[in-house]
Amino acid sequence: MRNVTRIAEVREAVRDWRRAGQRVVFVPTMGNLHAGHMSLLEAARAHGERFVASIFVNPMQFGPNEDFAHYPRTPQRDERMLSEAGCDLMFMPDVAEMYPFGSAAATRVEVPGLSDILCGEFRPGHFQGVTTVVCKLLHIVEPDAAVFGEKDFQQLTLIRRMVSELCMPVQIVAAATVRDADGLALSSRNQYLTEAERAQAPAIHRTLREAAARLAAGEQDVAAIERHGLRALEAQGLRPDYFAVKRAADLGPPQADTRHWVVLTAAHLGKARLIDNLQVER
Ligand code: PAF
Repeated sequence: MRNVTRIAEVREAVRDWRRAGQRVVFVPTMGNLHAGHMSLLEAARAHGERFVASIFVNPMQFGPNEDFAHYPRTPQRDERMLSEAGCDLMFMPDVAEMYPFGSAAATRVEVPGLSDILCGEFRPGHFQGVTTVVCKLLHIVEPDAAVFGEKDFQQLTLIRRMVSELCMPVQIVAAATVRDADGLALSSRNQYLTEAERAQAPAIHRTLREAAARLAAGEQDVAAIERHGLRALEAQGLRPDYFAVKRAADLGPPQADTRHWVVLTAAHLGKARLIDNLQVER
């Protein structure tokens, strides 16, 4: 595996693979890799022959009081894991390479509306940072396909919409959420949990499952399911930002004929803000 820090080096490597007729699949990450990220690389295998992963903790997607400075960074371990997983190219730019005029002054990409609901309501500017950096990364790598985790369901929905609206010729592949045995979705932010909080955290998945079961059974009162979810999380010691039932296709309000639903939540537990979701067909 090659480890590069410059945009020009990525372009050169990808150009050579393209000339050789190979399909390139891209996995963007913020590093501190765990089994969830490895499953994205696993999903990538079905879509091409060459694999690029980026490791970039993107300052633009962190609010002023968020954990940018403390976000776990483990570059050497990440490099080893990517290499062992068969990645061909690791792109680890610094902030100046990605934002030559600084991240505050950078040109931005925004998906209005979708960026402002759910997590967007509680993390203003977050999704503008995500869509901006993903748009830039997709322009740098120009992959045939790019893989994103379903754990960040709103992010995945926004990226699909951005790619479609900006006519970007890339296939977006969704990879299923990886969970610990007790249901907690894997996340770098799980490291912020104390032992006692880690024992409480599976309440998120349990509560989502209860809501998903009620929806699957045909319950129509979405507001009641949302209220119950919020109360259940609070009763189990979490501080939820939201617990919401949406149409999976576009995160709009579900209609009578909606078949594909998603229940999403974000909740604080100690120093961590955890997100998770479950999709439901009915
Ligand atoms: O999901 C993430 O790790 C990040 O939001 C992403 C897509 C790498 C953009 O910084």
